Amino acid sequence: MDRTKIKDLLTTTPAHQSVTVMGWVRTFRNTQFIALNDGSTLQNLQCVVALNSVDEQIIKRITTGAAIKLTGNLIASLGKGQAVELVVNQIEILGDSDATAYPLQPKKHSLEFLREIAHLRFRTNTFAAVFKVRHALAFAIHQFFNERGFVYLHTPVITGSDAEGAGEMFRVSTLPFDNTPRTDDGKVNFKEDFFGKETNLTVSGQLEAELGAMALSEVYTFGPTFRAENSNTTRHLAEFWMIEPEVAFADLNDNMDLAEALLKYAINYALTHCVEEIEFLKNRLIEEEKQKPQDERSEMDLIQKLQFCLDHSFERITYTEAIDILRNSNHNKKKKFKYLIDAWGADLQSEHERYLVEKHFKKPVILTDYPKQIKAFYMRQNDDGKTVRAMDILFPGIGEIVGGSQREERLQLLQQRMDEMHIPAQELYWYLDTRRFGTCPHAGFGLGFERLVLFITGMTNIRDVIPFPRTPHNAEF
Ligand code: 4AD
Ligand code: MG
Repeated sequence: MDRTKIKDLLTTTPAHQSVTVMGWVRTFRNTQFIALNDGSTLQNLQCVVALNSVDEQIIKRITTGAAIKLTGNLIASLGKGQAVELVVNQIEILGDSDATAYPLQPKKHSLEFLREIAHLRFRTNTFAAVFKVRHALAFAIHQFFNERGFVYLHTPVITGSDAEGAGEMFRVSTLPFDNTPRTDDGKVNFKEDFFGKETNLTVSGQLEAELGAMALSEVYTFGPTFRAENSNTTRHLAEFWMIEPEVAFADLNDNMDLAEALLKYAINYALTHCVEEIEFLKNRLIEEEKQKPQDERSEMDLIQKLQFCLDHSFERITYTEAIDILRNSNHNKKKKFKYLIDAWGADLQSEHERYLVEKHFKKPVILTDYPKQIKAFYMRQNDDGKTVRAMDILFPGIGEIVGGSQREERLQLLQQRMDEMHIPAQELYWYLDTRRFGTCPHAGFGLGFERLVLFITGMTNIRDVIPFPRTPHNAEF
């Protein structure tokens, strides 16, 4: 279908040329001015219908949400705020939209309400901006790795293992719920299941990525991952996308450098390639923060915040140093934490992570060398016998955005740790094989894609940066 995109028209020199546009009506004022949007830009094209030039039956059908085709002449706009406008001489209604039933009115709707109509929320500027930034970031991430010679490895969505050993998996099965086949001792007989064994949706592509890295040396996965954890927070999803690079001949320092470079690359990409969207989101956030008391508003606007991240190196400290800072903080002494920090070994809650980032260092922080008790089985053990070569990157307003480690490449130590943590070694024989045949130091991490999008768009709820969020008790659309 022959049409010109509105984005292109807005930068065209108007000379009364005839053009055709197609889009959806955002507003129709005084039976004369149509604000038309086709998704190519956040801006609407102002289209002017000459009074009495069009059949009244057609005029009635120009309602908010309707899809229409307009042909007219492009002229320099007399009004403020736009360079061009369209003087309409032909209108075709492509799809009506009943104004009394259409849930999106030309007014401000709350994000909560829009979440309930997530099938229509793409039609608002906020979500158009968010999902365009999300797209750009996905592209930037592939570009980052491609420029550095990484191989994009598609790791499986259905697996027979639990990569994190945390037991938070969604089962994949075609067995009937009633009349489930049983073994002689009464257990479910998974031999009769589709794959002839127990399977689940992957929680992480890491273990398979490690197999790739042990030959290709630099690989990454970028795909959906699933966690059946019952966390109803603004930062958890049951289905989220994760970027997981895995690098051979690399230690934890290389890993931190790579993660910091990737995050900065992504932020910089959004700032330079999504100018219109980021500017819009910055202003949206300023408006939203006006509802907060003065002292709770951010000191920096969104663009300043992103720029600040680019201009500063991330603080790198050990878990042990972080515990000291937290334990001695006024916040802890005045019992302002919900979970007080008293002993080494405690898992950090997001309130602690955010204190370190937002109050203490006031910039992104990388915490390393966590107690082995609170980390996964595959992390490289330090000589102190207590800690592992783990790293978490903490971001302002987000908390943990990256989790990773140097991997335990020594077969015996890995097997020992798996035994201690009751990780079934027979099931992971293929993983252990990499340690049997040509093992080498290697490291990797996982970046939660939605948490990155959350940070860069300045949105506050993770449900608003993925098109169709899956959370406990919610899998609509
Ligand atoms: O820290 P996690 O659990 O690490 C792993 O899965 C490792 N296998 C990664 C690796 O080393 N290859 O998850 C990594 C990141 C977190 O830092 C967080 O950003 C994100 O994934 N994440 C979630 N994002 C949204 N919803 C959830 N439920 C998430 N769980 C983790
Ligand atoms: Mg983690």
